[in-house]
Amino acid sequence: MNVVTGGTGFIGSCLAKMILDEGLDVATFDIKPTSPVLEPYGSRWRHFRGDLRDMSEVMTVIKESQPDVIYHLGGMLSTPSEENPQASFMTNVVGMFNVLESARLLGIDMVVYASTNGTFGLDLEGLTVIGDRTLQRPFTMYGCGKLFGELLGRYYHRKYGIDFRSVRLPAVVEPGAKTKNVSVYNAWAIEKSFFGEPYQIFVTPETRAPIIYFKDAARAFQKMHQGVRWDETPAVREWNWKVKFHLDDMVEDFIRELTDHRSWYI
Ligand SMILES: NC(=O)c1ccc[n+]([C@@H]2O[C@H](COP(=O)([O-])OP(=O)(O)OC[C@H]3O[C@@H](n4cnc5c(N)ncnc54)[C@H](O)[C@@H]3O)[C@@H](O)[C@H]2O)c1
Repeated sequence: MNVVTGGTGFIGSCLAKMILDEGLDVATFDIKPTSPVLEPYGSRWRHFRGDLRDMSEVMTVIKESQPDVIYHLGGMLSTPSEENPQASFMTNVVGMFNVLESARLLGIDMVVYASTNGTFGLDLEGLTVIGDRTLQRPFTMYGCGKLFGELLGRYYHRKYGIDFRSVRLPAVVEPGAKTKNVSVYNAWAIEKSFFGEPYQIFVTPETRAPIIYFKDAARAFQKMHQGVRWDETPAVREWNWKVKFHLDDMVEDFIRELTDHRSWYI
C-alpha cells in the first residue's frame, strides 16, 4: 500500500494511477473530494479527504493505510502561496511537519517529497549548472516553505532514520491546469491553441524555461521509490534520469489527453 498526499491533484492522481496500474493499492489524501482519474479503480483506491494542516487527519490516513511509502505531493503552489503566505506556511510548512512526524510516530520507512526549483532564487548570477552545493536562497513564500520541507526531511533522516527522498521539479506542464502558478502559461499555450482561443505570453521569443510533463514528473516520484539509493552522491550520477516526453511528445500527448479525457481536465 502507498499513500499519496495531494493525491487528487494533477501529479498526485497521475502518480496514484501509475501505482494502481502496477497492481499496488493506493490511499490518497487531499482536501479535494475525488479524482475522476482514480474513480475507475474501485476498492483498490481509497480516498481520505483531509487537511494537511490537521495532524490528526494526516495521522488517520497513515494509520489506517500502513503504507510502505508516503509520497508527499500535497500543498499550495507558487502564486496562491504568494497571495496568501500565511496559509502557505500552514499548508506547506506545518503540513510537511505533520507528514514527517506522523511517519515517525507510526513507523513508516520512506517519505518521497515534491520540491521545486523555486528553492533556488537569489545570488545565482553567472551560474549555468545547479549542483548539490549551489546556494539555496529562495525569494518567494513557496520557495521558502519547500526549502524548509527539504531540510526537515534531511533532519528526520539524520535524527530518526526515515528514508527521505525528494525531487526538485521545474515548471510542470499539465492539461486542464486551473490554479495560477508561475508555470501555468506553458500549459495554457498548448491548451488555448487546442481550443482555438487566442493567447499571449508576455515574454520575448528567446526566453527559455525548464519544463517537465506531468507524466514524467509522476514517473520521477515513482522511480525515486524504486531502487534509488539514498546517500550524499549527486542524484544524477546514481539515478540516470531520462525524460520520456520531449517537447514534441509532450504536446502530442497533451492534446491526446484533452481529446480522450476531456471530462477529467475541463
Ligand atoms: N505544478 C508545478 O509546476 C510544480 C512545480 C514544482 C513542484 N510542484 C509540486 O508538486 C506537487 C504537486 O503539484 P501539482 O502540480 O499536482 O498541483 P495540484 O495543485 O494539482 O496538487 C496539489 C494538491 O494538494 C492539495 N492540497 C492543497 N492544500 C491542501 C491541504 N491543506 N490539505 C490537503 N491537501 C491540500 C490540493 O487540493 C491539490 O490536489 C506540489 O507539492 C507542488 O508544490 C509542482
